Amino acid sequence: MDYKTQYQMYLSQASAALEDACAKFLPEESEVCRAARYSLLGGGKRIRAVLVLSVCDMLGGDPQTARAFSAAVEMLHCYSLIHDDMPCMDNDDLRRGKSSCHVQFGEGIALLAGDALLTHAFSAVSSAYFSGSLPAETVLRCVNQLACAAGVEGMIGGQVIDTMPEEVPMTPEELEAMHGMKTGALIRTSAVLGCLAACAPRDVILQADLYAAKIGLAFQIVDDILDVTETSEELGKSASDAENHKTTYITLYGVEKAREMVRRLVLEADLAVKGTMLDDEMLYELADTLAKRNH
Ligand code: IPE
Ligand code: IPE
Ligand code: MG
Ligand code: MG
Ligand code: MG
Repeated sequence: MDYKTQYQMYLSQASAALEDACAKFLPEESEVCRAARYSLLGGGKRIRAVLVLSVCDMLGGDPQTARAFSAAVEMLHCYSLIHDDMPCMDNDDLRRGKSSCHVQFGEGIALLAGDALLTHAFSAVSSAYFSGSLPAETVLRCVNQLACAAGVEGMIGGQVIDTMPEEVPMTPEELEAMHGMKTGALIRTSAVLGCLAACAPRDVILQADLYAAKIGLAFQIVDDILDVTETSEELGKSASDAENHKTTYITLYGVEKAREMVRRLVLEADLAVKGTMLDDEMLYELADTLAKRNH
């Protein structure tokens, strides 16, 4: 199967998993569930889901478990986007080609829709125990993995740094650490959850983690590049880094050097899985496509 067909296959599995999760955890009648569904369904590249599904697949794991985990990471990611767009953070009105959640539903409901997605991401992970597909100990490890990625040493910690007014410009090391936390942590956890869904051994988990750390950083550098090279219409989201006075790979290095860094990270990602159980065309193509994306 070629890469595009395979990606499409994982995308449709991810969409089905998200529909299932919505049916289970976000019953349509309430406003907060409508807001969560509005932001969650029908948009996004789903790269975190594709990572869970493809890694689990190449390790021969249970596809049903991978689907539940893919829904979990996308729900958690979507919560982070809803909150990231709010006026108290990046104050962006456009997301995935539509009005941001708070513009559509008001700030209170958007805040709670994000909270609901965060909470039920953990329901989705724990469903792997209730369905009998993984032992309790492994599921607990997965819960812990996701909590660490989302928490103050992961996504939230990175967002805190990003939100704080900067008295002095960030150093390159600080920026890399922030990107690793706000974006890299959840991308790494997606790869690790794919491994855990397949009960992979420790060395494979470490290789997947290293691969994903490299593409995670590359992914956020590309996000910084696109913020200056593309329009909001092309991106389907507001390009607001300059307006918000953010330190980014562009403010520190400029577009050309940032692109060069992305190319290097892709090579490093490839090296991390070369000759391992994850030595698969899918991961090479995924790294390459993410680096070359234009939205
Ligand atoms: C946007 O993530 C926020 C970042 C962490 C860069 P994505 O670019 O994955 O957003 P969607 O899910 O495709 O909308
Ligand atoms: C946000 O980074 C990362 C998150 C954890 C949501 P950005 O603020 O750069 O993401 P976009 O550009 O709004 O998607
Ligand atoms: Mg932000
Ligand atoms: Mg933002
Ligand atoms: Mg951005």
